[in-house]
This record gives sequence, C-alpha cells and structure tokens, in this order.
Amino acid sequence: MSSVPLFARNLEPYHDRLSAAVERVVRDGRYILGPEVEAFEEEFARYVGVRHCIGVANGTDALTIALSALGVGPGDEVVMPSFTFYATAEAALVLGARPVFCDIDPDTFCVTRETVEAALTSGTKAIVPVHLFGNLAPVRDLRELGVPVVEDAAQAAGASSDGVKAGALGTAATFSFFPSKNLPCLGDGGAITTDDDELAERVRILRFHGSKDKSTFTDVGWNSRLDALQAAALRVLLPELDGWTDRRLEAAAAYERLGLGEHVKLPQAAAGVRHGYHLYVVRAERELPIGRGYYRTPVHRQPAIAADVELPATEEAARTNFALPMGPDLTEDQVRQVVECVSGST
Ligand SMILES: Cc1ncc(COP(=O)(O)O)c(C=O)c1O
Repeated sequence: MSSVPLFARNLEPYHDRLSAAVERVVRDGRYILGPEVEAFEEEFARYVGVRHCIGVANGTDALTIALSALGVGPGDEVVMPSFTFYATAEAALVLGARPVFCDIDPDTFCVTRETVEAALTSGTKAIVPVHLFGNLAPVRDLRELGVPVVEDAAQAAGASSDGVKAGALGTAATFSFFPSKNLPCLGDGGAITTDDDELAERVRILRFHGSKDKSTFTDVGWNSRLDALQAAALRVLLPELDGWTDRRLEAAAAYERLGLGEHVKLPQAAAGVRHGYHLYVVRAERELPIGRGYYRTPVHRQPAIAADVELPATEEAARTNFALPMGPDLTEDQVRQVVECVSGST
C-alpha cells in the first residue's frame, strides 16, 4: 500500500525539456527577472485570463505583497479561514494586520458568503478566501460584500468556476509554484494575478524594494522576485496543466466509481466548479490506514496566533479529513488498491 504515493505525479517525462530550459538560462546569463520571467508572466496571465501576472519568490510573499499593495497595514483586519496553511495568516501578520478567522462549509472546505459576512467589521480591509485542496471558494459572492478579495489560489492552479479560472475571480489572486503544487517549479516560486492596472504596478514596485526604476525608492518593499530558472521551468510545464487537471478529475471519478463513497465521505466540488484536486480529501470519523490528515491544528489554534474564536465546522474538518493519493499519474489500479485498503479498515 505504501507503494501508492500521496502525490502521484512523475516529472520524469519532462526532465529533458526542463534540463534544456535550465541550460538556456545558464547560457543566457540573465538570472533575475529578465526575458524568461517576462515571457512566463505573459503566458500565465493569458492562461488565467487576466491582464497582469507578476512573478515573485514564493506563494507566501505573493500574499503579503498583494495585501500590502491593497493598502493593508498595521491594525487592519483581514478576514480569512483558519482551515488553511499557516502562510495565509502569516502574510497578514507580518504587515501588522490582524487575521480575523471565519468558518467554512465542511463539505467544500472553503469559506462561504455567510461565514465571511459574519466576520466583517468596519475595520476589514481585505478578504482572503482560500481555494483549499483545489476546490474554489465563492469569490463572486464575496466581491458583492464591497471589500477587496485576494484569492489564495496556491492550491488551485488550473481549477475554474463556470469557465473562469482561479486567479481571475478576485480583485487579485496569489499562486505558489512549490514543487508539490498543481503547477510546480523546481524550488520556490509564486505569482500574483490581477486585472487592475494600478494594483499590478504597485505589486511590481513592492517586489523590487519599493522601486519602479531601481534607483529611486518610493516605498519600503521586498526583495521577492521569481528567478529566470524557475520561470523557464514553469514555461515547460504550464502547457501540461490542463491535461494534468483532466487526469486528476479522472482519478476522482475512479474513486467514486469504485465505491469509495460507501466507506468515507467523498470531497464535493462547489457548485459550478471544475475542481483542481490538488489533494483528494475525504472525511471519516475514524483513523484510515492510508493517507494523511491536513491542518489537524487549524491556524487559529497555532501557538503563534491562539485566537479566541469558535469555529465548529473548521474543528470538524480538521479532525476528520484525510488526503488520499491523488495526481495526474494515479492509475485505476492504484485507485482500486486505495479503495480496498480503506474498505478493509471499516
Ligand atoms: C493555501 C496556501 N497558501 C499559501 C501557501 C504558501 O506558498 P509558498 O509555500 O510558496 O510560500 C501555500 C503553500 O504551501 C498554501 O498551501
């Protein structure tokens, strides 16, 4: 059973093309930003369906910089889920802002309009819905609340809602290209997407030490750039993303067809959503012999935060979720093995 990997994706078929891309950059000699990064930014913006993509060093910086570009600073409140990776909250905290945690829908693992609305105050400067596990939060509904919405799309590259890609739904969106993500690079990488010209300009300034022209410094920013080697790798892999997502959806369909739903609660795509299945996360009231629980200690209860807030659906999801093997290279036979393993434990 241990032979079925949790992240079932094999990059070996791309090794030659990745190596050729790396060699191209090595010989070119421009390693920070430059034409390779510009080309990826253009290609990813076109893929997502927005006017701007700005490459940064990782998905955490992408969130911090996007929030800062929206004017989030000390004392401001940012509404977000607690059932997420710690970085979502960290991005607000390093700006001196206060994460205000809202609950989720345990069936989608994402925030809802109602849970966000309950957490809004006059001090709310931004909302950060997380597209958790590749499912999409209801961003269109959230935008009606009149506060800027930053999609945390770290886990959702390739997912879409009624045909609109994750990354094109919010005021801005942030991505991580960490190697396990649906669109991976060969180390750390991230990006911000937006249709807002002014916001894009602010982000470009902030990722480069608060400077537009590299000699006059108008803001206190970050040194957070996507490097050319990562951009070159991403340009090789981006054309594969839609095919990979199709195969993730086929694996999810196989889990259903082979009867996994008789033993555990299956993940549910939100209405109208083409799920990205970054992870295939079921719920069970018992320990499963395979897979791994995510975010067992949700962010609001982490020692660095310890927020005094009651989030019953978050607690339930944290206690009962199990990620089972998923990925574009998961075979039907492996799915069958997982289902047998889970059913044998009932
Ligand atoms: C939901 C979420 N947000 C933010 C991040 C941060 O991305 P990175 O690891 O590239 O900084 C991650 C990555 O693990 C994530 O899963």
